[in-house]
Amino acid sequence: MISPEFWRGKRVLLTGHTGFKGAWASLLISRLGAHVTGYSLPPETSPSLFTLTRGANAVQESHMADLLDQRSLTDAMQNAAPEIVIHMAAQSLVRRSYRNPVQTFAVNVMGTAHVLEAIRATPQVKAAVIVTSDKVYDLAREASPRNESDPLGGHDPYSASKAAAEILAQSWRHSFFRESPGSYRPGIATARSGNVIGGGDWSQDRIVTDIVSALLTGQQVELRYPESVRPWLHVLDTLTGYLTLAEHLYDIGTAFADAWNFGPLPGEEMRVRDLVELFASEWGANCGWRLATEPQPPEAPQLRLDPSRAVSRLAWRPSLSQAAAVRETAAWYRAFLAKEGDATFLCHAAIERHLARLDQFLPANV
Ligand SMILES: NC(=O)c1ccc[n+]([C@@H]2O[C@H](COP(=O)([O-])OP(=O)(O)OC[C@H]3O[C@@H](n4cnc5c(N)ncnc54)[C@H](O)[C@@H]3O)[C@@H](O)[C@H]2O)c1
Repeated sequence: MISPEFWRGKRVLLTGHTGFKGAWASLLISRLGAHVTGYSLPPETSPSLFTLTRGANAVQESHMADLLDQRSLTDAMQNAAPEIVIHMAAQSLVRRSYRNPVQTFAVNVMGTAHVLEAIRATPQVKAAVIVTSDKVYDLAREASPRNESDPLGGHDPYSASKAAAEILAQSWRHSFFRESPGSYRPGIATARSGNVIGGGDWSQDRIVTDIVSALLTGQQVELRYPESVRPWLHVLDTLTGYLTLAEHLYDIGTAFADAWNFGPLPGEEMRVRDLVELFASEWGANCGWRLATEPQPPEAPQLRLDPSRAVSRLAWRPSLSQAAAVRETAAWYRAFLAKEGDATFLCHAAIERHLARLDQFLPANV
């Protein structure tokens, strides 16, 4: 789990800080006392959590630039001289990847190569977490929970591009960051997290965005695959996984320079339709759902992650069950829309509750 002491004064470069997870990450890492430099395109959604939380104030420096511009990225990295890099910027949407496959591969694969090249040119970097996805696995066969040694795959362009980013990170680790057999510097790890939910996501084609919009307009949510199982995880639990991994890479290094799953604990299982029903009941309304009538691009029916390696070796675990994560997310939107607090206030309050929960997992309060 995260040790707040570790982060105080650390220099961190975060790509994707203007996105949904990036806005939360900027607030969380800054709250822990680190100096954050962000590198991303300007926020895309409207509203955007980055804009609402005045994300530019949460980071020391905010670069609005393209990952595909190697010179600009390397300059930003060298000027920031980070000790830790968290690479989250990506074309992150499956359905958009069907519309723009080449752009998806360009950003997710070549963008990752550019980040790794910028790291090579920045000697201060000791640890880097490359964020990929739960969708990197080959799901063609049985639906058992995937562990890190299962074959990579991915049929849609988003999933395949993230699987390619995994192979790319592994190649850079072995080709450029190997000091001696089995010893790597800086430590580069990849993080495969489950489907992330939390307040403040307004991205297109995401289930929470669709539910909130249906609840506000009094319509039914249109579901493409209601019976699909996904490894849902609250955004702060996901980010805690990334930060815990970064700490281990920094402090211990080599043994953690690998791939890591972050997902719900075994025994928890929630279908898309269950999430909709729970969200609506927490909201105090019943929006109901209906099956999409248009033909839909295929998506994996069952996606289960085995997080046991992160649980045993990083002492990470979700602080919220899937049901609690859904309730927390619904409560965030309800409070935001009822103007019970602005987005910054609601995110800070959620972060304090999260850190208090984590305290219970630590041997001693930090
Ligand atoms: N949200 C989820 O459920 C989920 C689950 C697993 C993994 N992930 C991964 O986590 C990361 C963050 O996801 P998110 O939900 O916050 O995504 P998001 O779409 O909200 O944010 C994407 C970020 O990447 C930046 N970006 C995109 N193209 C860029 C480019 N060419 N140059 C510079 N910056 C660029 C955007 O500006 C934005 O800051 C992504 O790598 C995503 O694939 C997300």
